[in-house]
Amino acid sequence: MNIGILGTGHYLPTNVVTNNDLEKIVDTNDEWIRTRTGIKERRLATEEVDTSDMAFHAALGALEEANLAAEDIDLILVATVTPNTSFPSVACIIQDQLGAKNAAAMDVSAACAGFMYGLITAKQFIDTGAYKHVLVVGAEKLSKITDWSDRTTCVLFGDGAGAAVVGEVGEGKGILSFELGANGAGAKELYLNHDDHIIMNGREVYKFAVRQMPDSTVNVIEQLGLSRDDVDYLVPHQANIRIMEAARERLGISEDKMAKSIEKFGNNSSASIPMALSEAVKEGKIKDNDLIVLVGFGGGLTWGAVALRWGK
Ligand code: UT7
Repeated sequence: MNIGILGTGHYLPTNVVTNNDLEKIVDTNDEWIRTRTGIKERRLATEEVDTSDMAFHAALGALEEANLAAEDIDLILVATVTPNTSFPSVACIIQDQLGAKNAAAMDVSAACAGFMYGLITAKQFIDTGAYKHVLVVGAEKLSKITDWSDRTTCVLFGDGAGAAVVGEVGEGKGILSFELGANGAGAKELYLNHDDHIIMNGREVYKFAVRQMPDSTVNVIEQLGLSRDDVDYLVPHQANIRIMEAARERLGISEDKMAKSIEKFGNNSSASIPMALSEAVKEGKIKDNDLIVLVGFGGGLTWGAVALRWGK
């Protein structure tokens, strides 16, 4: 069976916070943030908007693009490190809001690689014939776990959500190969502390990511016996433009073939890949039959990549 993405959606909070705004709260500057990370601004959700609200709106968009009703969904998987509360899951909250009464629901915890883990989990349920349609969402309100006095992390993150409906697609299309991985020995480099704040050893995570993201990108293409320049579009986790460029350069593809939403949205953890993907689809940057690679990494440490032929 060929299993792929039937529709995508994303949600962005309206509140824009620029690098200059951050200069007023921590000792930083626009030039440092832009040159070290590629970020110019990010969106932050207001007090009354929680992770599930953003997930819900992204899911509605994906259902609409897939031309499916909420009742058609058999399983909801929400990748998040910022659930409204530890339970019930964000997936259960949006199951009710959407009216997806036939869907099982659970959250997936794999940090910034969460959407990749969700996507591949969805594929397994469909491959076995157990389910037909799985809704996979990446949603994060990172602003609620950001230490706003720590300049080494607070300039990096933003809020938002992205979603995809996964199901059967036509011959030759859909997910062609994947790679998932984890290294729990690296847990200490990126985690949530007892005060509910993100703690990150930026240099160590950078060293890991700048090797892993290009490796995984190339691995999923080589599994197919294809050449790197067969890739039409790359959607990497939007963590740092320098890490993203390392993956793009290893593939040897031109700049216009890589999603670059980091400038406007910062790092949205599990939401960054589906947000960038949905935006690229809406902007017409991804066309039918394009070979695309999604690749991410994050706390855990975790990583994942998928090569897929776009289209229904
Ligand atoms: O999705 C989660 C995965 N996380 C990541 O992908 C993060 C991976 N790491 C990175 O992206 C980079 O390591 C950072 C962007 C976090 C930092 O960039 P860097 O080039 O590795 O900088 P650094 O940590 O080596 O720090 C260089 C200098 C330091 O000052 P000294 O020690 O050289 O005097 C920092 O104190 O920059 C200083 N610095 C800042 N200066 C202005 C750190 N943060 C800031 C800041 N503004 N916000």
